[in-house]
Amino acid sequence: QLSVNEYLRQHIRTVADWPAPGVQFRDITPLLQDPKVFRVLVDAFVHRYMDKDLRPDVVAGLDARGFIIGAVIAYELNVGFVPIRKKGKLPFTTVEETYELEYGSATVELHSDAVKPGDRVLLIDDLIATGGTMMAGKKLLERLGATVTEGAVIVDLPELGGSQRLRDAGLKIFNLVDFD
Ligand code: PRP
Ligand code: HPA
Repeated sequence: QLSVNEYLRQHIRTVADWPAPGVQFRDITPLLQDPKVFRVLVDAFVHRYMDKDLRPDVVAGLDARGFIIGAVIAYELNVGFVPIRKKGKLPFTTVEETYELEYGSATVELHSDAVKPGDRVLLIDDLIATGGTMMAGKKLLERLGATVTEGAVIVDLPELGGSQRLRDAGLKIFNLVDFD
């Protein structure tokens, strides 16, 4: 009898040397492709966030893989979904946040009416590496007066220190699978 976490772990594909030499890329697409596994994945989050103490007012998803699971989780929780997008994609007025990548920088945006002051927001992505993307999302939501109740991902790469940095910044992190 496999635990849910081990079952999901076994359906993540590792691709060596992608997108650059030395990187072991943790590919979540096999989790989505098999309907049985996809259901186990989504239900693991939904069961956690149905609980009245953890149920958010809004789910925010990070571009692009955070949209795939974030939207389904929001639908199941019967709450709204808001996308945090890479710069230049959102048509209305936005707030934006620039953060450092290993090489260069990236900017993400959020519509300025996406959340209201006091909203409790669950922030979702597929994976935490350095934590920069999720930290930028947290800052955007907080700039609009919302509270990020938790950051949730399928995979954490703890050796990169991102989830620890996020916790040190006061964000609770929930993940289903770890990879060294
Ligand atoms: C990946 C991943 C996370 C982020 C994690 O997205 O899906 O969003 O990087 O890295 P970090 O913790 O170091 O910020 P990517 O930028 O590859 O974008 P994509 O989802 O559009 O492919
Ligand atoms: N998988 C998916 N996204 C990523 C990874 C990874 O291994 N590392 C940084 N972003």
